[in-house]
Amino acid sequence: MQIYCGIDFGTTNTVVSITGKNGSVIDSFSTPTILFINHEAHNISKIHIGAAALEQFENGRNGRYLHSIKRSLHDKHLKQTIINNQRVTLAQLVRYFLEELNKEITNKWGIIPHHIVLGRPVIFSPDKEEDELAESRLLEGFRMAGYKEITLLEEPVAAALCFESHLSDDDEHFLIVDLGGGTSDFTVVKRDVKKTGIDRYDILGIHGINMGGDHFDEDLMFAKISNPLGINATYSSKELPMPVHLYRTISRWNTIHPANKKKLDEEFRHLSYQSTDRDAVLKLKSVMTNNLSRKILHKVRDSKHELSESAETAIVFDEHELDIKENVTQSDFETIIDSRTRNITSNIDKILDQTGMKIEDMDKVILTGGSSQIAYMQKVIREIFTEKQIIIDNDLHNSVSKGLSSFAYYKGIKIT
Ligand SMILES: Nc1ncnc2c1ncn2[C@@H]1O[C@H](COP(=O)(O)OP(=O)(O)OP(=O)(O)O)[C@@H](O)[C@H]1O
Ligand SMILES: [Mg+2]
Repeated sequence: MQIYCGIDFGTTNTVVSITGKNGSVIDSFSTPTILFINHEAHNISKIHIGAAALEQFENGRNGRYLHSIKRSLHDKHLKQTIINNQRVTLAQLVRYFLEELNKEITNKWGIIPHHIVLGRPVIFSPDKEEDELAESRLLEGFRMAGYKEITLLEEPVAAALCFESHLSDDDEHFLIVDLGGGTSDFTVVKRDVKKTGIDRYDILGIHGINMGGDHFDEDLMFAKISNPLGINATYSSKELPMPVHLYRTISRWNTIHPANKKKLDEEFRHLSYQSTDRDAVLKLKSVMTNNLSRKILHKVRDSKHELSESAETAIVFDEHELDIKENVTQSDFETIIDSRTRNITSNIDKILDQTGMKIEDMDKVILTGGSSQIAYMQKVIREIFTEKQIIIDNDLHNSVSKGLSSFAYYKGIKIT
């Protein structure tokens, strides 16, 4: 069958695209990269992904909710977790996700791809060994899910194949800034309009960091939600401070292990003893024992998205009598994310140095990936480049996967 398939296994969203025999993209679909495994005695058979997983989680179904799996792939200390009394490795989590994704692919297009082009970030981790571990776990998960021939391509290189319509004839050099959920990637491309297809683009350099929109959610959660949960309280007659790591833990998307309720009961007996804010500390306990942190993170993420459109919003969460309502202004958000934003954008200098190019050499700068919608991120990029250089991708969730399926087409990697 003359169909070519690309899969962008993203931290936040997984996108699948197919390209047809004439080289144009036929279709794409996207599903959040989340997994919900219902609790059963000794079985892992009821698995939900994407919106269905979120629904199970939101409706309080009994099971394990896994988010941002891609961000944990490089973690050499994280070998497995126990689900339904079975040991489950990270590669198996990827596999479970993909087995459900495969059903969606077949339902939608009536195909079963065995040969694909799969995206990977420029780096999973700055540590080489961890980076290789992440890649091998990803590949193992795909192989276990039935994929036989997997060609890896860096995500921003794939994106480079999708922006032709944004460019004019005399645009020779362009920079792609892909701001995702867990990673931010940068690519400098030289374009030769006299050439066609994939030969038109010469990748001069790629660079990436493992930081993205997920981290903004986590910082916003930590900054705004820690206070109503008692971070400023003290406990015991010695007026000990609350352990900050608890607040960091609840602010993380990629928690893999479930809470140990017995241990928490013990810990909170100490933490609430002679507490200066017992109510708030018991709210923290409720968040931890009832596994509410990712529900709150979803609200925090919604607020972050609202701040891309409006000057002010609020994080509201009233389940389990938590009664949280925290206002967030654009200026609060800017202060919270300033150092990470500048850390991310400082990589523009690095990629330009690496390729021996200057800011003014870039005919176009294309912003893609969900986090490119953050108003402050755009503001900081506008401090670096002129309005004439900047293009904001209007298909920012699909560009990478479309590029992956185009690459499969150019390389003749048919799905079977
Ligand atoms: N309107 C918006 N405003 C701000 N951020 C947004 C908006 N829409 C999406 N995002 C953020 O974009 C990120 C997801 O982007 P994207 O789908 O490009 O990532 P990904 O491809 O899954 O991740 P990665 O490429 O890092 O593996 C999330 O952090 C999400 O909150
Ligand atoms: Mg991405």
